[in-house]
Amino acid sequence: MRLKDKVAIVTGAGRGLGLGIAEKLAKEGAKVVIADVSPAADAVEKIQKNGGCASFFVANVANQEDVQNLVKYTVDTYGTLDIMVNNAGINRDGMLHKMSVENWQMVIDIDLTGTFYGTQEALKYMREKNEGRIINISSGSWLGNLGQGNYAAAKAGVVGLTKTAARESARKGITCNVICPGFIETDMTLKLKEVNDGAAWASMEQRIPMGYAGKPEDVGNMVAFLASDEASYITAEVVNVGGGMIV
Ligand code: NAI
Repeated sequence: MRLKDKVAIVTGAGRGLGLGIAEKLAKEGAKVVIADVSPAADAVEKIQKNGGCASFFVANVANQEDVQNLVKYTVDTYGTLDIMVNNAGINRDGMLHKMSVENWQMVIDIDLTGTFYGTQEALKYMREKNEGRIINISSGSWLGNLGQGNYAAAKAGVVGLTKTAARESARKGITCNVICPGFIETDMTLKLKEVNDGAAWASMEQRIPMGYAGKPEDVGNMVAFLASDEASYITAEVVNVGGGMIV
């Protein structure tokens, strides 16, 4: 119970990686607000069935007012905000020479600007109370990846944004870190199982030194550590959770 009575927001937590993170934080004793653009009653039920405390708030992270309301709801309901996990993200892959401006902008709006809104709102609140943890989910693709120009740009932006937030807030008792998951089994990646009779999935797994895709809880474990007291001197870091895939 490393996070007993801490209050956390996890965006994009209706399913996948965000849900894995929310479940782990709840297991460690945190009260978790699951924020998602789509309803996710089952996610809240799953956590409550396991004895955890969770509630749901509908928010599109690309909408600043939604994110402001999300933080306000959390503080009004639970009295504080200790941990902000900006996880919501999408991909719209395509080679740059064929990429539509719409697909470029959508990924930037959700993955980068959404993370900015979440980081900014959390900072406003955490700076007042001189403590807090911000954990932003980027991707190994921030280093550049074929067919992911929009996603790589957004995820690289998340790294720069978070390192800046860390430097600006270190003396306010706030840590800000980035996690880069490698290849994790979620709806975002499982669609590869349908490409070329599973060959696309198999080829991704071959690129992972450990030989298999990660699970949402692998990322959840790192988030819980970074949110805990044990990580109080760790800030402005980029931590890979990728089975050796990201070097
Ligand atoms: P997913 O597609 O399975 O789940 C994403 C969740 O975010 C969904 O519940 C969706 O409704 C929600 N969402 C989408 N747009 C939103 C918005 N505008 N506002 C609020 N919620 C929104 O994706 P997955 O795999 O769980 O990804 C989560 C994060 O992890 C993303 O930022 C992704 O880029 C990152 N990531 C995932 C990897 C993987 O292998 N699955 C690898 C590296 C990074």
